[in-house]
Amino acid sequence: MRVGVIGTGHVGLITCVSLAEVGHQVAGTDSEAQKIADLQRGEAPFFEPGLQELLHQTTESGRLSFSCSAATAVADADVVFVCVGTPARASGEASLVAVEAAARDVARHATGPAVVVEKSTVPAGTSLSLKRTLRRERPDLGGRLEVVSNPEFLREGHAIEDALHPDRILIGAETDHAFGVMRRLYATFVAQGHPIIETDIQTAELAKHACNAFLALKISYANALARICERAGADVVAVADVMGSDPRIGRAFLNAGLGYGGYCFPKDIQAFQRLAGRLGYDFPLLSEIARINQEAVTAVVDKIREALWNLEDKRVALLGLSFKPGTDDIRFSPPLALARLLREEGATVVGYDPEAAANAKGELPELELAPDPYDAASGAHCAVVCTEWEEFKQLDLVRVRDALAYPILVDGRNIFEPDQVVAAGLSYHPTGRPPVEP
Ligand code: UGA
Repeated sequence: MRVGVIGTGHVGLITCVSLAEVGHQVAGTDSEAQKIADLQRGEAPFFEPGLQELLHQTTESGRLSFSCSAATAVADADVVFVCVGTPARASGEASLVAVEAAARDVARHATGPAVVVEKSTVPAGTSLSLKRTLRRERPDLGGRLEVVSNPEFLREGHAIEDALHPDRILIGAETDHAFGVMRRLYATFVAQGHPIIETDIQTAELAKHACNAFLALKISYANALARICERAGADVVAVADVMGSDPRIGRAFLNAGLGYGGYCFPKDIQAFQRLAGRLGYDFPLLSEIARINQEAVTAVVDKIREALWNLEDKRVALLGLSFKPGTDDIRFSPPLALARLLREEGATVVGYDPEAAANAKGELPELELAPDPYDAASGAHCAVVCTEWEEFKQLDLVRVRDALAYPILVDGRNIFEPDQVVAAGLSYHPTGRPPVEP
């Protein structure tokens, strides 16, 4: 099938390569000329495991192309994906300005009937405005520009794997024709055993917010438990294991630490709360999730202060700057929130990250960068694990201890076992577990 993709960010670009990989003819477009120039040269504009290779493979095969022209992406397309950003307004509400602009682009350039897919995360009810815009702009197509909601559930750092092997493909549509087009589009995935769930459009839109908010709720629940475990002398990792052994709860997303970040959870929870408010339902649970998440960062500052006494003139090494492992994304990154708080209290902050260092420096120019974790630790008064990159789990902790000015390790992601750290001669301050001294 011929597929157009408007917006080549984290969601749009992965949509492009995965649909081209299963044999569709895909044309991507973006308003950022530099991004398109990079893609035309075959360069992925962000880091994601396997993306560079798949981009190369699918463009070489002739099934994927990029251009700055929305007309090229939209004209003759059977399906057009809207994958533009929906950033938060000051009120927390999602801004849908780019979604409307994309709808106008589709209307202006469509040469015939097409299915227009909302892939960006949007508040329930957005499809109604999208549909109205398409009809108003193209009365001649008489409603044959049909709107479908097909929310994306991929995780950064696993985006290619998730896109090619989705847990489920959610399709919200209004007509048999639109469902039929989407079934055909995803036929290869279904043949491989990946299920499609079909709903009405509002349900699909709302389900996306419901999933993200629930995952964030699990994380904040674990972080609130961590605060109580710290006061009670209990171990939050063991508590999460007990909870997770109940299949009704599940162990995933119960890891306490620095909390969630990234471009999805913080923004989606706010937008979901605004949507609820607009619909006349007070949903304070959502703001509580966000409050506990902020507390997860201040709790680590408290831990560092407790270990170092005054923070003025102390040097703190942050291991990991991205919001999670496997990505160079630093948007709403908890490690950067931590760096800001430490600097406000007078500490010097040095950071190391295998992928996100340059992005972090761009966001926080005062941050010192180190070329490796040992260099970051060198002369610092404590090291803090902020992102659970695999390479940190393999660290030579004796070398870390020797490099540090004070032998103190704060673990904001609980990646080590206490015995292992203490055996290396470090004083260990994990999250939601008792601290241990060598
Ligand atoms: C999230 C969802 O997991 C995806 O299903 C969804 O498609 C995506 O948002 C989106 O809406 O686009 P993502 O933001 O890539 O994906 O990252 P996650 O793996 O969900 O992690 C989010 C944050 O939670 C990270 O900062 C991570 O470190 C943190 N986290 C995760 C915890 O603090 N504890 C946990 O137990 C799990």
